[in-house]
Amino acid sequence: MPKDIPESQAVCNDITRSAIFMVATVAEGEEPAEQVRAWCGDVAALVRSVGKRVPSGNLSCVVGFGSDVWDTLFGAPRPACLHPFREFGEGERRAVRTPGDILLHIRADQMDLCFELATQLIGRLGAAVTVVDEVHGFRNFDLRSMVGFVDGTENPVGREAVDFTRIGDEDAGFEAGSYVIVQKYLHDMTGWNALSVETQERIIGRTKLSDIELDEAVKPSCSHSSLTTITGNGEEVKILRDNMPFGRPGMGEFGTYFIGYARSPEPIEQMMENMFVGRPPGNYDRLLDYSRAVTGGLFFVPSATLLEALADRDPQAAAVVEQRPEAPSSAEPRLDGSLNIGSLKGISQHE
Ligand code: HEM
Repeated sequence: MPKDIPESQAVCNDITRSAIFMVATVAEGEEPAEQVRAWCGDVAALVRSVGKRVPSGNLSCVVGFGSDVWDTLFGAPRPACLHPFREFGEGERRAVRTPGDILLHIRADQMDLCFELATQLIGRLGAAVTVVDEVHGFRNFDLRSMVGFVDGTENPVGREAVDFTRIGDEDAGFEAGSYVIVQKYLHDMTGWNALSVETQERIIGRTKLSDIELDEAVKPSCSHSSLTTITGNGEEVKILRDNMPFGRPGMGEFGTYFIGYARSPEPIEQMMENMFVGRPPGNYDRLLDYSRAVTGGLFFVPSATLLEALADRDPQAAAVVEQRPEAPSSAEPRLDGSLNIGSLKGISQHE
């Protein structure tokens, strides 16, 4: 790849057998911020060191940063669409926002690789961070989600996966970055398993054993696959998911860690609104009658090139540049729906 084209982090890597999802908050003060910045320059080398021990293990790590911490760590400019996680729904059916400044998405075909890398990365951050959530996910048979249906079938692949997740020239300085939304779900498996397979299939919108999409004539408009199918400018807008089941049977814990990547948070937010509020409102995703979101976070994933360069960022110096009249405001991400992303403007719906 030519030197001036930034390289993405391992966002589009193939689905693996194991994953660790870690969300951490950064302690207040200049010292922790400095430590996190220095760490940004160490991540790639640590992934290389641990990964080389099992070359066939497909070890990778994606690092993301939350809205609240960006200015403290890196100052201006900031990614155009980076804002706090938006909540949707109410009462029992709510996409909640929970604290989180740094996301680590560690993947490999062996849990020992994930475990070792997580240990090294978190060890290097030391007291600068507090881990607020850690989930160890596993592959469940033939990519079955915790609710027993194959998960990931409609993911974009190859060139399409890159196009849907890689920021282009719509946000100068942040090219080859991505946005990622995570939510930890806990399932009521007793309730779910009491449903007939036919009812479950109408909720997901696909057949359970053979994983075939239900015929339009029988697929309800509130099915999970209908509500998460959206279009923009007449074209389907996809996201890239790498969900993993997790749990502790002895504790009655059965979960799905949802993780979705896109080149703007907007399509993922639209899908969440459709699921939690409904399309139209009230026509919500019945999967949520058996699944409760207990965490929620939105993070910006810098390109690998920028991640390394962030180690040398001086947030104060960058802020001076930001004060020039032509520079965009760092304090106010564009929350008005004009996300400045030509290809995603005018997202609409279709079933
Ligand atoms: C309880 C958590 C969830 C579970 C168990 C789950 C499971 C599934 C399953 C089994 C499928 C069908 C196979 C496939 O195409 O992957 C699917 C499709 C999909 N899900 Fe989820 N999902 C969850 C949450 C979410 C969330 C929060 C979003 C987005 C905000 C989402 C977005 C999608 C999309 C875009 C598709 C593909 C739809 C299509 O093109 O047909 N899912 N999910």
